[in-house]
Order: sequence, then C-alpha cells, then structure tokens
Amino acid sequence: MRLVVVFLFLATVSATCHANCFIEQVVHQIHPLRPRSGAGGYRLENINCQSWRLAVETKNIINWKLVPEACEGYIGHYMLGKQYRKDCETVANVAIEYAKSLTLAGDGKDIWVFDIDETTLSNMPYYARSDVQFGALPYNDTKFNEWVAEGTAPPVPASLRLYQTLLPLGFKIVFLTGTAERFRAIRTSNLKAAGYHTWEKLILKGEADKGTTALVYKSKKRTELVNSGYRVLGNMGDQWSDILGDNAGDRTFKVPDPMYYIG
Ligand SMILES: *[C@@H]1O[C@H](CO)[C@@H](O)[C@H](O)[C@H]1NC(C)=O
Ligand SMILES: [Mg+2]
Repeated sequence: MRLVVVFLFLATVSATCHANCFIEQVVHQIHPLRPRSGAGGYRLENINCQSWRLAVETKNIINWKLVPEACEGYIGHYMLGKQYRKDCETVANVAIEYAKSLTLAGDGKDIWVFDIDETTLSNMPYYARSDVQFGALPYNDTKFNEWVAEGTAPPVPASLRLYQTLLPLGFKIVFLTGTAERFRAIRTSNLKAAGYHTWEKLILKGEADKGTTALVYKSKKRTELVNSGYRVLGNMGDQWSDILGDNAGDRTFKVPDPMYYIG
C-alpha cells in the first residue's frame, strides 16, 4: 500500500481574495491519494515525474490517458502549488509583451483566441476531488459535465490579466471551446462571474462538430473566422490541439496542463 498525502503550502495566496479563494477551498478537501494497480497504462519503473511533465508539455508524450500512478502526488503539488501559477504568469507576461508590440488595424478584426478550460477558466476545484485526483483516475464525462453545469469555475488569474490587458489595446476576444453548445448559458454566466465581461464571439461545439477531434474542430472554426475577415493575432490554449492546425494564429501560447490530453 502506498499512500501519498498532498500537503499544500500556499504562502502565495494573497490578501486580495479574487481568484485565489478556490485554492484555499480545495486545500481543505485534499484526501490521501489512493493507491491503484493496473488500469493506468503507465507501468514505468522509476518514472521521473518532472521529466514526464516536461515531455507532456513539449508534446513528446502524446495520446496519454492518465497521469502516471507514481506522479499523482507530484502533479497535485504542481497544480496547487506555486509552480503552476508562476508558469502561467510567465506565459501571460510573454503574451502581453507580444500583444503590446503590435499595431492593430483598428477595424475591429484583430482577434485573440482563447480556449476556455484550463486556459481562461480553471477546473481545479473539480480536478482536486478525491475521485478525480488531478487526472490520475479515469475521466468521467457525466461527472465533469455536472461540474461544468455548476458554472462556478474560477479564472486562471494570469490569463485574466492577459485578457484585461488585451481589451484596452483594441483586441477582440474570441473564446473557442470544445464544450457542447447546450452549456452556452452557464458558460456565459461563468465567464462573466470569473471576470471575462465581454467578448466578440463565444464558440461552442455544436451538433455538426460532434465526434470531430479538437484539432479539426478548432481549425475549422478559426478558418471560418479568417474567412469572415478576422485576423488571429494571438491564440492561447492548454492543449496542443488548441494551437496547432489551420489558422492557428500569428503567435500561439501554451499554458501548462499536465492533468489531461486532448488530441
Ligand atoms: C460517473 O459519474 C456519475 C455521476 O457522478 C456516476 O453516476 C457514474 O457511476 C460514474 N461512472 C463511472 C464509470 O464511474
Ligand atoms: Mg483547455
């Protein structure tokens, strides 16, 4: 029996509650990570979890189903600790520097595309649950959709800061998500509650695109945008399938996500 208890040190939780509150909440919900055998697919001995995470972020490891059993604790620490937040801040800083360097046409056609889950909204309150374990236990579509339907996902703070910087620079914002169209109302209220108060388009996955991969679906939607005159100057996502494919954008930005893979 192997029990790894996630301890969390959140000295960084600042006085401004803002998006940090949810972390304080989940800290008190962390359960001992349950030992598992089989099922995971990863039977790597002596796996180095930091190397695994790097290989995931660089798209060297693809099509993975679960966080390796041996890395449950490591990924939990990463996601709830300082490093994930610092990594997101670094991506946002680079994106802001790039955005500020551009001269926009001023015709309202310069857009910044954002993915939603784990890019602008965080599902950490869900992924920290004992029956989800930061992606180490099998994905349950029903359960995840119940969480989405709550509409209480907090923002990824760094991405919200980028968003707040882009608007006054004149960028139009497009949210492009694989979430199903039937969640439009709750996603809209969730985005607004999280601080994303305005946007040009919110594109959700309709019936016609059901069954298509994220890469194909997002490429198609971006191409539709470009065909109607928009210019994708920036594009940010937590999955490579958000930022590869057709009309990916003049520059793309990858935020970390070692919890799941969407191809
Ligand atoms: C998935 O979650 C639902 C809702 O919580 C639950 O009823 C169902 O048993 C779960 N399925 C599996 C395979 O665990
Ligand atoms: Mg995402």
